[in-house]
Amino acid sequence: MKILVTGAAGRLGSQLVAQLQEEHHVRGAGKVGDASHELDIADYDACRRLVADTNPDIVLHPAAWTDVNGCALNPRKALRINGLGTGNLAAVTAQRGIPILYVSSNEVFDGALDRAYNEYDYPNPLNAYGYSKWHGERAIAQVNPRHYIVRSSWLFAHGGRNFIQAILGAARAGKPLRVVTNEVANPTYTNDLAAAIARLIEAERFGIYHLVNEGAVSRWQFARHVLNLAGYSETPIERISRHEWSRPSLPPEYTALANNAGASIGIRLRPWEECLRAFLDAEAAG
Ligand SMILES: NC(=O)c1ccc[n+]([C@@H]2O[C@H](COP(=O)([O-])OP(=O)(O)OC[C@H]3O[C@@H](n4cnc5c(N)ncnc54)[C@H](OP(=O)(O)O)[C@@H]3O)[C@@H](O)[C@H]2O)c1
Repeated sequence: MKILVTGAAGRLGSQLVAQLQEEHHVRGAGKVGDASHELDIADYDACRRLVADTNPDIVLHPAAWTDVNGCALNPRKALRINGLGTGNLAAVTAQRGIPILYVSSNEVFDGALDRAYNEYDYPNPLNAYGYSKWHGERAIAQVNPRHYIVRSSWLFAHGGRNFIQAILGAARAGKPLRVVTNEVANPTYTNDLAAAIARLIEAERFGIYHLVNEGAVSRWQFARHVLNLAGYSETPIERISRHEWSRPSLPPEYTALANNAGASIGIRLRPWEECLRAFLDAEAAG
């Protein structure tokens, strides 16, 4: 297959390129880094030209403005990139009958349920980032019938900034740790998510998917597990509520995602504890 990947220098995008290029002809597009083509998804003509020039069999679209606090401070920019930019790609792929896979977020949900969200539960985003991602979902669903929408959460990857590295960095530096107890989701390893996406596009069954590592956990429990596995079991972590951690973008409280649609076609991701161990082992091995 000829595959075009947006956001190819990002955490998930770079992993998609790395894994898929073993079996497919992959072109990466992005603003910077390893991307082989420059692309600003907010520029409709640039999207149209790139899709015409590369003529892919499918477009994988993880590119987004993922700075949730930046989105809260500048919601118009969030909508321009995550909403309208995604709409540009939906339109140019639809015009050519090309399928598109859009990566969305647990933050499209309001977190008010006391159970995991199913693919068919109705989104109700609380913050600007979640709203912009939901707008992207609607653009995809309304404009290109040959679509996958893949929601995921709490991504962690090698080589980039993430929650795990922040917690470990603070523990190593002997800084006091305060972590939120009432924010719950599924930590997800980009290597596992990229592998699941690679299988999904082979299945050619369009629709909405919740692809996350199995098991939901609070930020505090996740941090505790990271420190215990990394040899810092004696390091204390103060428990705080999400309202005590002041930031421009308040995340939803409970956004565990249930993987029903993927599981029905045999696509399941392993438990988060297992992949966290694999991640830390790989980091230690350098
Ligand atoms: N990270 C998470 O915890 C998480 C959770 C759930 C869902 N998701 C979703 O998963 C996807 C991948 O996330 P990630 O963590 O891999 O994100 P990431 O590391 O921030 O990568 C996103 C990429 O998109 C690029 N980008 C930003 N604006 C662009 C534009 N206007 N045109 C073209 N490219 C642009 C970024 O380039 P620059 O860096 O140069 O701006 C970056 O390379 C996103 O759609 C995100 O919403 C992420």
